[in-house]
Amino acid sequence: MHAFQPYPIKEIEFNPFVRFGDNWGALTTKADDKVNSMTISWGGVGMLWDKPVATVYVRESRFTKELLDKSDSFSVSFLDDKYRRTLKYMGQVSGRNEDKIKNSRLTINDYKGIPFIDEGNFIVICKKMYSLPLTLENVVDKGVEEQFYKTKDLHTMYLGEIVELLAR
Ligand SMILES: Cc1cc2nc3c(=O)[nH]c(=O)nc-3n(C[C@H](O)[C@H](O)[C@H](O)COP(=O)(O)O)c2cc1C
Repeated sequence: MHAFQPYPIKEIEFNPFVRFGDNWGALTTKADDKVNSMTISWGGVGMLWDKPVATVYVRESRFTKELLDKSDSFSVSFLDDKYRRTLKYMGQVSGRNEDKIKNSRLTINDYKGIPFIDEGNFIVICKKMYSLPLTLENVVDKGVEEQFYKTKDLHTMYLGEIVELLAR
């Protein structure tokens, strides 16, 4: 296991557009003793209810959603470029069908019981705070439905209080 240091939240140099949008993250959660991780490129960080929060968006069809709905926590692990292929795999195959962690030869570490990817270089540890299913009627640009929701597989937005940032 790697040695991680807690990172003071007000000191982070973290560009969410690059980290989520370009590097991608591994959204990891656990329920019923099953740990699963899926690749995400949509998400962000900010403030809500005086707390630092991370936001992720998970489609209805994802196994991760099934676990996340049962869990009270999740993490987002960011990995070096050399894990790009692994992230592609974890973004294509469902944990319903394969043990993605094992097949990727990744290691699960945990922070106070919240699982994360030990090979990550920067980890956002979250306690689930709020979830909100997106609805088509509230989408302002109707082109979004055509582009992203032809199959009606909508995203649910999950907000997590950032309880720790880990870096190594
Ligand atoms: C680069 C990339 C980014 C992705 N971002 C998201 C995302 O933000 N939300 C989402 O629901 N699915 C996203 N996906 C798709 C899921 O990772 C994919 O469907 C995955 O197989 C779901 O795994 P699961 O069924 O084990 O949860 C992304 C896939 C890739 C390759």
